[in-house]
Amino acid sequence: MNGARMTDQQLTVLITGGAGYIGSHTVVSCLTAGHRVVVLDDLSNGHSEAINRIERICERTVTFYRGSCLDAEYLDQIFSEQSIDAVIHFAGLKAVGDSVRLPLDYYRVNVAGTVNLLSAMQRADVNRLVFSSSATVYGVEAEIPYRETQPRGSTTSPYGASKAMVERVLEDLALADPQWSIINLRYFNPIGAHSSGLIGEDPHGVPNNLMPFIAQVAVGRRPYLSVYGDDYATPDGTCRRDYLHVMDLAEGHTKALERLNFRGFETFNLGTGVPVSVIEMIRAFEHASGVHIPYEIAPRRPGDLPEFWADPSRAKAQLNWTAHRGLETMMLDTWRWQSQNPNGYSSEG
Ligand code: NAD
Ligand code: UD1
Repeated sequence: MNGARMTDQQLTVLITGGAGYIGSHTVVSCLTAGHRVVVLDDLSNGHSEAINRIERICERTVTFYRGSCLDAEYLDQIFSEQSIDAVIHFAGLKAVGDSVRLPLDYYRVNVAGTVNLLSAMQRADVNRLVFSSSATVYGVEAEIPYRETQPRGSTTSPYGASKAMVERVLEDLALADPQWSIINLRYFNPIGAHSSGLIGEDPHGVPNNLMPFIAQVAVGRRPYLSVYGDDYATPDGTCRRDYLHVMDLAEGHTKALERLNFRGFETFNLGTGVPVSVIEMIRAFEHASGVHIPYEIAPRRPGDLPEFWADPSRAKAQLNWTAHRGLETMMLDTWRWQSQNPNGYSSEG
């Protein structure tokens, strides 16, 4: 694969899951780069209001289809009505704990849903794809920093297993049919929001992830944060992760889209390469927002790894992508979104 852009022309891209967190920011990035966007989302965890706000941010229209990747007829309809050049596939379920309780839902939506989408693409003769994978596929024993040259490891949840399975499906497809051009992106920990404060992360129920939990404590929706463990073998005893700004991640997708100019299957880490601890995250948020975050130390969360981060050098060399927004910007943008929308999309914007 070389680093040249596929084309300078406008592409029409189908973004599944485009009303969700990362998808909505990627729609903004693709529109800003001049592409046309069609969104498919069943709104099981997304928000139609996100689409309205994207249109406000970009002053462009988005063609929105409400439906599921599991619905083959609906997919055929979309591909026949729209002249799609490429697909960015975000649609899926992502709560690790739920996946342990509801494995069949996770395999149905994440694995069968992707196979269904790929079959529809094949019928429509569309063979360029960007896929949302996760750092979790490196598994529990991988060496740090994670590099794409390392094999996939043993995943601890049906969620992680579903991502690893789809990666394998995509590899096999690219081997079987040389028409395919597939970029597999392994995300580290996306946080933050668009700088307008109009779109951001709005998880249903109690947030599982650190950043939305801190943000909800800051607006008074939760009394305090539980820090899961302070006795890890890390500099301050709390876990360390590679947090990256969701707009950097979104721009990584636009770059990937524009580089689907090769035959086969390529994997890239999208992360900063810099680990940050839970305590450092709390301090950085307090510094950016001026709001005190009460916390207490709680037992370790089962399944958590002490620390991991990306080696992002392949994405830099081949996609010409680096995460350039720092921790302070991530915190300021999170705070702008959360303080302007204390109840997420259900509050008046
Ligand atoms: P999200 O839940 O906000 O977005 C997913 C979107 O897909 C939602 O809008 C949901 O309504 C939609 N969806 C779900 N099932 C669907 C179906 N069957 N058909 C159509 N639409 C459907 O999640 P996100 O954080 O934006 O994550 C997007 C993708 O990135 C997911 O595949 C997720 O597993 C992956 N990922 C996320 C993270 C993260 O930290 N957020 C990390 C690694 C990978
Ligand atoms: C989690 C998922 C992972 C997924 C990633 C991004 C688990 C075990 N892993 O990873 O598969 O790819 O989200 O969506 O769920 N923390 C607290 N208090 C909280 C919440 C989190 O202390 O209320 C700590 C955690 O222990 C962890 C860090 O904050 O050390 C980050 O947690 P989180 O945001 O959930 O991300 P990951 O655990 O990296």
